Amino acid sequence: MNTVFEQFETSSMLLRKIELADAPVLFAYWSDQEVVRHMNIKPFTNLEQVEEMISLLNNLAQQEQAFRWAIVRKRDNLVLGTCGFNNWDKENCRAEIGYELGQQFWRQGIMAETLTALLDFGFCKMELNRIQALVEPANRSSLGLLEKLGFKEEGVLRKYERVKDEFVDLTMVALLKSESIAYKY
Ligand SMILES: CC(C)(COP(=O)(O)OP(=O)(O)OC[C@H]1O[C@@H](n2cnc3c(N)ncnc32)[C@H](O)[C@@H]1OP(=O)(O)O)[C@@H](O)C(=O)NCCC(=O)NCCS
Repeated sequence: MNTVFEQFETSSMLLRKIELADAPVLFAYWSDQEVVRHMNIKPFTNLEQVEEMISLLNNLAQQEQAFRWAIVRKRDNLVLGTCGFNNWDKENCRAEIGYELGQQFWRQGIMAETLTALLDFGFCKMELNRIQALVEPANRSSLGLLEKLGFKEEGVLRKYERVKDEFVDLTMVALLKSESIAYKY
């Protein structure tokens, strides 16, 4: 598969490679305590950290280990957030999704629209059989979003990750290719 930095679209969003030029807008989101509250990063405190993260993400994409796209609103070219796949396990045809939007864009249906295309990409282009997410139980918006997209909760993994210097429980949710009737393959 030649998916490295492949871009794709929804009706109102373009998903494209994250560029170093996106650092200032992503800094606004990744430094926001509310946005990163349930993510496995500490709020970023300077632009260099964002640039390093962008380089890291693009290197992981070159190695086909993870893919992260900028979510760009087509009508004004504004970057609203990012989304993508982590821990691509080719042997077992599975990967984890991750995503975030700037706070001012929450609750407008944007991530539901975006993830619908991302899941399609995962099942069709990456030939995944299972797409999973590890979500902090308190992250009701993320769990609600995934439930709306057909993901099923499989259980709580106790103290599964060290996040911001604390061990946290994570809820495992997943969608199987066979359950995703909306997807074309
Ligand atoms: C999680 C997040 C991406 C949701 O994106 P969004 O674009 O606001 O979600 P949508 O508007 O597409 O909502 C889709 C569904 O998600 C659920 N949902 C979204 N926000 C919710 C909230 N605050 N409370 C409860 N349910 C919520 C609802 O079921 C909603 O469907 P509905 O509008 O028909 O009720 C956004 O809140 C975010 O960026 N959070 C911070 C980063 C983060 O936590 N990332 C995930 C780490 S696992």
